[in-house]
Amino acid sequence: MLSDDLRQTLFDLGQQQLLAHVDQLETSARDRLATQLSTIDWQQVRAMRSLARTDDPSAALSVDAAWLAAARTPAGPRLRSGGPSPAGKLTPADATLRGESLLASGGAGAILVAGGQASRLRCDGPKGIYRVGPVSNASLFELLLGRVRETGGRYGHPVPLAIMTSSATDGPTRDYLKEHNYFGLSAEQVLFFQQADLPALAMGSLDLLLDAPSHVAVAPDGHGGLLSALVAAGGLEWFADRGVEHVASFQVDNPLALPLHPEFLGYHLLADAEFSTQVVEKQEPAERVGVVAEHNGQHRVIEYSDLSDERASAVDPDGRLHLRAGSIAVHAFTLGFLQRAAAEPNSLPLHLARKAVPCLDATGTLHRPAEPNAFKFERFIFDLMPFAERVLTVEIDAAEGFAPLKNPPGAAADAPEHVQEAMIAQARRRCEEAGIDVAEEIAVELGPAIFDADDVRAAAGGRVVTTPRVLTLPARPAS
Ligand code: UTP
Repeated sequence: MLSDDLRQTLFDLGQQQLLAHVDQLETSARDRLATQLSTIDWQQVRAMRSLARTDDPSAALSVDAAWLAAARTPAGPRLRSGGPSPAGKLTPADATLRGESLLASGGAGAILVAGGQASRLRCDGPKGIYRVGPVSNASLFELLLGRVRETGGRYGHPVPLAIMTSSATDGPTRDYLKEHNYFGLSAEQVLFFQQADLPALAMGSLDLLLDAPSHVAVAPDGHGGLLSALVAAGGLEWFADRGVEHVASFQVDNPLALPLHPEFLGYHLLADAEFSTQVVEKQEPAERVGVVAEHNGQHRVIEYSDLSDERASAVDPDGRLHLRAGSIAVHAFTLGFLQRAAAEPNSLPLHLARKAVPCLDATGTLHRPAEPNAFKFERFIFDLMPFAERVLTVEIDAAEGFAPLKNPPGAAADAPEHVQEAMIAQARRRCEEAGIDVAEEIAVELGPAIFDADDVRAAAGGRVVTTPRVLTLPARPAS
């Protein structure tokens, strides 16, 4: 039922177009629309409209120009080679030992971020069910959950995993993972939580849009939606009840992600960081990647769209980009920090992006625009950085930990074939390091239980690999 209050709110905001088809709707559809409209935070819609009115993508960025001009690339260790860090000189061996003991004590948990709409990939269903394993044909979920499972097995303690879904991915994700027995994780080890949606606003009028006669066009509220959704689902207590003190978050579209790498977790612990984040070196000024920057002890991620050409292309005396710490969205947080950040009002501002959003026209016909026609609003989890007491960046080699799947087959970058090439190249490198010859042009893939050269040798079962293979070890029993 559409309440009088709701009708009045729509009237006050000039949004009666949302009721344009209501008289033709059956009762159940009308109720669905009423329910959706009643869950929209209209106060927030007012704020979104003011933000959109500025028509300035950087409006959400509260960094002043002086900060940006003085900002530099933060010093931090490099995975597998140590280096400077706020905690002094750290060796990879020290860090690895610390990370391993965290994993063995059950103090580490993980959050898989899987609520995106995958609009560029245009896949049928959630991105996580997309099959990308070059030899195994495994889905992203199978690859990523397999690694979480095997990490638990290797260190003798299951890793609790919270999976963030959205209205765009929730049902099919739950069904798919249940059908596949959570790829060997126990059901008690997995928590699903759903992020919120935000309505899209038409460019120009800033009106809300319908994408069906009984449905307002909405989109998930960005990976930053993680914080409030996790809190609302009782996720912080869920982790704490399982003994978790540090959580690593990673995204569903990066099958090489290393959130639970012991050395990464170890640097995070040794630096006593509240927020650690993996970065890869940005090579070209035009790369569309956000960069972690630091000034006066404060860290932030600056989106590529917020960097002037001049600032983006500034170089250091050694010829490397001055701001080069490319953010890859693999983070580690203390649970205490997430708890504190959740209580901080406005810690995650809205950012706006121009997108092509399917919508009904005045006659009720659905249009799928090729060009952006609307503003979408998102929160970014990295905006929490300035609230952290200590932030650590850990540089990783992109070839080892970053192969994002964004675009459909045939695209110039971040397409399935590029991800597969990266996975094969990594497996070939691991074989070479372990003294195993792989015949030319032969695709090899690392199974989720392969962690080191001994594992590679045991899985290869000989000195040469001549046929396409997934290098696997028998699954470790769940502990
Ligand atoms: P992207 O911003 O690349 O979005 O998200 P996407 O959904 O994968 O693809 P496009 O932009 O629609 O083509 C990076 C990661 O963040 C997650 C995605 O699932 C992906 O793992 N994400 C993004 C969310 O979980 N929620 C969101 O609201 C946005």
